[in-house]
Amino acid sequence: MLLIRGGLLTDSERQYRADILCGGGRIVAVGPDLDAPLACEVVEAGGLLVIPGGIDPHTHMEMPFMGEVASEDFESGTVAGLAGGTTTILDFVIPAPGGSLLDAYRDWRGKAEKAVADYGFHVAVTHWDERVKEEMAVLTREHGVNSFKHFMAYKGALMVDDDVLLHSIRHALDLGALCNVHAENGDAVAWLQQELLAEGLTGPESHPRSRPAAVEGEAAQRAIAIAGLLGAPIYIVHVSTRDAAEAIARARAAGQRVYGEVLAQHLVIDDSVYETGDWLARARHVMSPPFRPRAHQEALWAGLVSGQLHTTATDHCCFCAPQKEKGRNDFTKIPNGTPGIEDRMSVLWHHGVRSGRLTPMEFVAVTSANSAKIFNMFPRKGSLAVGADADLVLWDGEATRTISAAASRQRVDYNVFEGMTVAGVARTVISGGRIAVHDGDLRARRGDGRYVARPCFGPDFRARSAQVRNAQVGSALA
Ligand code: URP
Ligand code: ZN
Ligand code: ZN
Ligand code: ZN
Repeated sequence: MLLIRGGLLTDSERQYRADILCGGGRIVAVGPDLDAPLACEVVEAGGLLVIPGGIDPHTHMEMPFMGEVASEDFESGTVAGLAGGTTTILDFVIPAPGGSLLDAYRDWRGKAEKAVADYGFHVAVTHWDERVKEEMAVLTREHGVNSFKHFMAYKGALMVDDDVLLHSIRHALDLGALCNVHAENGDAVAWLQQELLAEGLTGPESHPRSRPAAVEGEAAQRAIAIAGLLGAPIYIVHVSTRDAAEAIARARAAGQRVYGEVLAQHLVIDDSVYETGDWLARARHVMSPPFRPRAHQEALWAGLVSGQLHTTATDHCCFCAPQKEKGRNDFTKIPNGTPGIEDRMSVLWHHGVRSGRLTPMEFVAVTSANSAKIFNMFPRKGSLAVGADADLVLWDGEATRTISAAASRQRVDYNVFEGMTVAGVARTVISGGRIAVHDGDLRARRGDGRYVARPCFGPDFRARSAQVRNAQVGSALA
């Protein structure tokens, strides 16, 4: 057993001083001055916050993408996450073109066996046929998958059209599963890319020009409209623009259940990165959606503060220099993605809490509890309640560190936050009731992570959704 003594417990609702006793991987008692049972390890948390372990709801470990495989695997990636206070990830299962969702899911389960921290999966739907329909049902019923992902961009690869979206979102609703979208108009992106290349504009600075804010805003609105038509909730990953954030806020004000995710990277890095440094420095910032002009960042922060945007993630997707080099003569061939899993919590604490934008409780909400609720893992994850998984972070909000690739555990040769000094350090990280990291020292082992099966949503999920649909289109489709 493990007793955490004297910390300031901070969940998404309140802060209070109490001890936490962990046993069998769970929190077994919370209260003042708990007695340490015999042979119980005691961790002193005086002066520290005790928070639920971070949840990163959007990662791509060892993902095959754009002719490369992301350099971070489930072991190195979950180690990096733990070091930064993230104890659970939700990674994206990507089926082969036209392929089986179940085969891809099994493939990901195999790759993830070496994970050091807990993980669950969203499964991507990249085409539509009877087998996909049946496999979505099997995944929700038998394998603890309650969310499906759709790429509205990456034409000729992962992109789906509106027909696939309609079928998939409708079917997911019947199954009690939540759909996610990567919202960018992939036809518009492909067209803009060809225009830029035709003008000889082949460098990484053309990447953001091929994906302007309107491209994201349009797709977000379209996905929201389709979900609204079907009476389905929808989750929009990596919202990076005011346009998309406003579309979400409007839909929510109209009673539609729409959730928005923001990446730590988009919150603090702007599009000046495409105008500075050498080719490689600019290529390293090629991700989709791209980094944006500063005004968009304030809209993202406002969304988190107002509760119109809900979760923070990293879309952790790592490609090293030789991989980015594949696009040396053509920016459309630079593998898209940036790292971030190790630094998300610190970046959110420093730029969120220390800057006065977020309260510590709001920090817990946007780094952990909201993801747990939206993806049906709460209160097992994202809470400090008795019975919850003992995934805890002893958080030092005063200590500072300077982020650098050299000092990082991420398996990638750069860091987009390089040189940034942030307050907020994970002192001790507890995963499944065991000390995983203590003062920078890794104690968790390969394979310690467990698969988190997430039950599908109950009938109320459909009932509430049907009300929205009926309000929007009358009873014709009911
Ligand atoms: O650039 C990115 N985001 N790469 C990963 C794939 C995706 O779109 O999430
Ligand atoms: Zn994406
Ligand atoms: Zn992604
Ligand atoms: Zn110590």
